[in-house]
Order: sequence, then C-alpha cells, then structure tokens
Amino acid sequence: MNKTSIRWAPALVFAVSACTGIAHAAELNVVKEPFAKTPGGAEIDVYTLANANGVKIRIINYGAIVLSIETPDAKGNIADIALGYDNLDSYIKATPYFGAIVGRYGNRIAKGKFSVDGKEYTLAVNNDENALHGGIVGFDKVVWNAKPIKRKRMAGVELTYLSKDGEEGYPGNLEVKVTYLLNNQNAWTIEYEATTDKATPVNLTQHTYFNLAGHDSGDILGHRLRLYADKFTPVDEGLIPTGELRPVEGTPMDFTKLKRIGKEVNAGTEQIKFGGGYDHNWVLSGEVNERFGLRMAARVVEPTTGRILTVRTAEPGIQFYCGNFLDGTHIGKSGKAYQKRNGFCLETQHFPDSPNQPGFPSTLL
Ligand code: GLA
Repeated sequence: MNKTSIRWAPALVFAVSACTGIAHAAELNVVKEPFAKTPGGAEIDVYTLANANGVKIRIINYGAIVLSIETPDAKGNIADIALGYDNLDSYIKATPYFGAIVGRYGNRIAKGKFSVDGKEYTLAVNNDENALHGGIVGFDKVVWNAKPIKRKRMAGVELTYLSKDGEEGYPGNLEVKVTYLLNNQNAWTIEYEATTDKATPVNLTQHTYFNLAGHDSGDILGHRLRLYADKFTPVDEGLIPTGELRPVEGTPMDFTKLKRIGKEVNAGTEQIKFGGGYDHNWVLSGEVNERFGLRMAARVVEPTTGRILTVRTAEPGIQFYCGNFLDGTHIGKSGKAYQKRNGFCLETQHFPDSPNQPGFPSTLL
C-alpha cells in the first residue's frame, strides 16, 4: 500500500491573562469522565485538560468538540470563552460547528466536485450548490476514539478517526489524528495528522467560536483584531473564491493593525455583502518561525476583561468568521440564546475550494 503522510503542525491557539494571587492545582492534568451516550449507544467521554493558572479545556470524543474553555481575565476572574451546549443531544440535533473539528475538507468545494488524476469525484452539496465542511456527516458529527496523553510539560487528549474510502464521496481510507494539548503558558496546541491509501484532498480545521468576554456576554464587535495577512481570497455570492489574492489595504478587510471588529463589519462593499459581514479567508504573510514551524496568524484583544488571544499556525490561511449566521435559535450553555455575532471563529486552514484552484497551495494528500 502506498501510504503518504503529512502533518499539519501545531495550529496553535492561545488565550492568556495575567493572573496573580489565586491558588490553583499546581499540576498540568487530564481527567477522563463519562459524558453521555449517542442514540446508537456509543459511549461519549469528556476529557478535562487543566493547568496551573486555572485554565480548563473540556473536550468530547463526539466531533472532537471543545465544550468549554475556562480562562482567567486580567483580574483573575474565570469565564468560559467558548460558545457551545451543555449536552450531547443539542450537538447531535443542530450545531453551527460549535467547537468541532471540521473535515475531511474545511470550508467550501465548488458544486461539490473535484478531480484527482483525471477522475471526477462528486460530494453531497449541503450549502446551496456547494459542499461545505466535509459534507452531511462530516468529522464534526462522528464518534472518535480518544485517550488521555501526557507529554513533557503538556497534558492532552489524542483523538483518532478512520474515514472510509467513499465516505461523503471522498476517495481513500483516511486515518486522521488530532491532538489537543495544554501547557502552563496557557497555550492550546492542536496537531493534525492524516494518512491515506488514495490521493484525496484534506483540509482540517478547528471551529471554536470565541467570545473573550465570556460565551454569554453578547456581541464580539468591541473585540480588537489583528490578522497577519496583507491579502485575502475574494469570493463570489456563494462564498467560492474567485482565485484572486487581493490586497487588503484601504478596504474593510484590512486588519494589519488592531481594529475593532465592528468598525466596518457592515460596510457596503461587495465582499462584506457576500459574506454577510466577515466570512473570508486571509492569506498569511508572516515569516515562519524556524524553531516551531509556525507563523503568526491572529491576535485578538478584548478591552473590558483584558483577555488576549494569539493564534499561530503552519497553515497558509485563516478563515475569520464573525458569527453572521447565529440568529438566537441555538440555545447554548446555561440557556444562553446565541445571537448574531456573539462569537467569532479563526479557522486555520488551506484556502477554500483549493481542489478547483490550480493557483492555490495544494490540499492533495
Ligand atoms: C465557516 C463558513 C461559514 C459558516 C460557518 C459555520 O466559517 O465559511 O460560512 O458555514 O463556517 O456556520
């Protein structure tokens, strides 16, 4: 069997804050507990990663979903900064990918079609005429195998899933491994690995919705965002890239300096109209750090709590989506109805529709 393997190295994320004078468990830890059963009877567990600063990340092996991220703010007050549900049933019924791993292909493939070595493949179309986020049952809706792991100065959980040849129309048996790790520097690291026995496009990402003031604190328009990107990939009405890499300078897409997310989110430009706000892929332009293989992707500052999030990645792009489709119908943790723009996603990724865009970096594994 001709196996190929690549590793998307740490799409690393990280929330921080100065936290003084508060006692917390000194040790990095991972604890596994039963969470729920799926209607089909599969056991779903919750893995809690905890560090010495009071940061806690809870993860389930359904969809590799991050249920919550508790972090202190600048004064040491803890809040959960990830949108989501309290229970498994809600995730199974309807979720806009809260906290999940998205795959086999994050974002859109035009008309659900692509070719590999002259053979055409057809995917289910689940977003008007296009395929979105891996299909009808993507990696966000499957049961993963999971086990707690410890590494030097990191505690984590390793999640694996075998996506069979033909699943959702994609070629090749794809073995996927996603590892979530937490350390005492408040860094959450995500490692993605995949191996296939037939050439297939792969574009894995993480779809956590953040609100650095707390998941239930309202809109994220006051957050300040910087994206380390001087170009983005403009889209058509169906949010399919045109193939152009367009400079952001002088447009609402310019986040090269910290800018309030709300400042131009309703600007009347064509791209903002197509996205219903921000829902675009930025082309990362920073240098890759030689030691870690990562480049800066984003920095977010929430002025009322002092929480700061930085994102580094080995991927060439990042989808910044500001929760335009949230409309109050998803009733989340502790009864919170998430309204439009109550959370934002920073999805490190290859560019949307790469299988049909010869000018984009290849997603073929
Ligand atoms: C991505 C897409 C959006 C939307 C969200 C989830 O960010 O680009 O259009 O599908 O996921 O609702």
